[in-house]
Amino acid sequence: MTIGIIYYSRTGNTRHAAKLLEEKLKERNRDVKLVEIEAVKKPGFFKAGFAAFRQKELPMKNTEFDLKEFDAILVGCPIWAGRPAPFVKTFFNKAMNGKGKKVGLFVTGGGASGSQTKAADVMKQYAQTHGFIPVETFLALQMTPGKIKDGTQIIDQFLTTVLSK
Ligand SMILES: Cc1cc2nc3c(=O)[nH]c(=O)nc-3n(C[C@H](O)[C@H](O)[C@H](O)COP(=O)(O)O)c2cc1C
Repeated sequence: MTIGIIYYSRTGNTRHAAKLLEEKLKERNRDVKLVEIEAVKKPGFFKAGFAAFRQKELPMKNTEFDLKEFDAILVGCPIWAGRPAPFVKTFFNKAMNGKGKKVGLFVTGGGASGSQTKAADVMKQYAQTHGFIPVETFLALQMTPGKIKDGTQIIDQFLTTVLSK
């Protein structure tokens, strides 16, 4: 079983989380491939917040995402202005061969757990619109720069739901 971890990270926290998830999946003997969404231009703080609030797509360098090599995927990004970084929207719009595929959604943020409901709803909606099947468990990690402060207790359950048949 091969799992793709597709993520966007502006300052490294989500990359850090993606690598931890990669490690945990490898401990479960899964093949894993990390795919980083690359912004054409790193958005500044205000542009990022505004684009996220409006869910305005931001251009990315990766031009296509063919997911047929993956049995399931994880998709992650930072929370901006209470919403997912809008590269996730662009990703789901570009993704090919995702219909019927299981997806585990995760975010990193500075806020305490419980403040990510809006981001979870928006991401689930993007996934469902494109025929993906989002798993029930949503992983929200609270971060300080480069370090996870809270949320790791959910990781095992999150991965189990993604890997279950
Ligand atoms: C424009 C902007 C808006 C943000 N808004 C939120 C927010 O609403 N809630 C939150 O928990 N964190 C917010 N953050 C903090 C980031 O989500 C957090 O630092 C995240 O882990 C950064 O991930 P990255 O290093 O992968 O880019 C915001 C950060 C930026 C740059």
